[in-house]
Amino acid sequence: MAEYVIEFGKDGRPVEPDGRLDAPAFHRNHQAIRAVLQRLLAGKSGDVVEAGSGTGQHVVDFARHFPDITWWPSDLNDQHLRSINAWRAYSQLPNIAPPLQIDLSDPSWCPEMREASGPRDLLAVFCANVIHIAPWRVAEGLVAGAGRYLRPDGLLFLYGPFKRGGRHTAVSNAVFDTSLREGNPEWGVRDIEAVEGLAVRAGLSLVEIAEMPANNLTLVFGRTKSA
Ligand SMILES: C[S@@+](CC[C@H](N)C(=O)[O-])C[C@H]1O[C@@H](n2cnc3c(N)ncnc32)[C@H](O)[C@@H]1O
Repeated sequence: MAEYVIEFGKDGRPVEPDGRLDAPAFHRNHQAIRAVLQRLLAGKSGDVVEAGSGTGQHVVDFARHFPDITWWPSDLNDQHLRSINAWRAYSQLPNIAPPLQIDLSDPSWCPEMREASGPRDLLAVFCANVIHIAPWRVAEGLVAGAGRYLRPDGLLFLYGPFKRGGRHTAVSNAVFDTSLREGNPEWGVRDIEAVEGLAVRAGLSLVEIAEMPANNLTLVFGRTKSA
């Protein structure tokens, strides 16, 4: 599992005694991300799973602004699960469920999802900054699981850097991609078209590409409508 660990706390605020980690990127990107969710989830209720929650800061922000939604954070890494739990306790928000330990490289995600003893008929799946910092099988499992667990009007949100038509959208993303692949040849900035291919196989279609600050995108997928 060590290969998946992101060492939050090294360049953010120090780790809090209760285990809360801080991701500097959260402070830069959370408002823009929330604005996309606000446009597409406003007024809706139901269960939303955040895949690869990391520190847990996004889910706290979402839960505060979408009180009618039950937010289910998740991660694979034990230290991140501890941080998510600590942020959950610190926030005292009633609409954050205990984190699920999900390994996204398993298309059925975790026993709670498989056995429908946790979140069900998902209104949405949200995933930020995961699929380029993990092997491709993580993207495969993430999208397959979304196809399996989303409700008919459910949406999959994928935030991060992406290539379009095989090309980087910015020099900074190309440099980042090279550094990722040097660290782990299985990682790297993904092509929108490749992710779309996974989505089609999972019964999902790309419904929106939202431009985000710092050359990031949010891809939004919904269930493919039958003709
Ligand atoms: C760069 S962090 C992003 C965290 C958070 N989404 C954010 O944007 O701040 C990537 C996260 O993906 C998680 N991750 C990596 N591989 C995973 C897997 N196979 N299953 C679930 N989570 C995974 C890591 O543990 C880490 O928390």
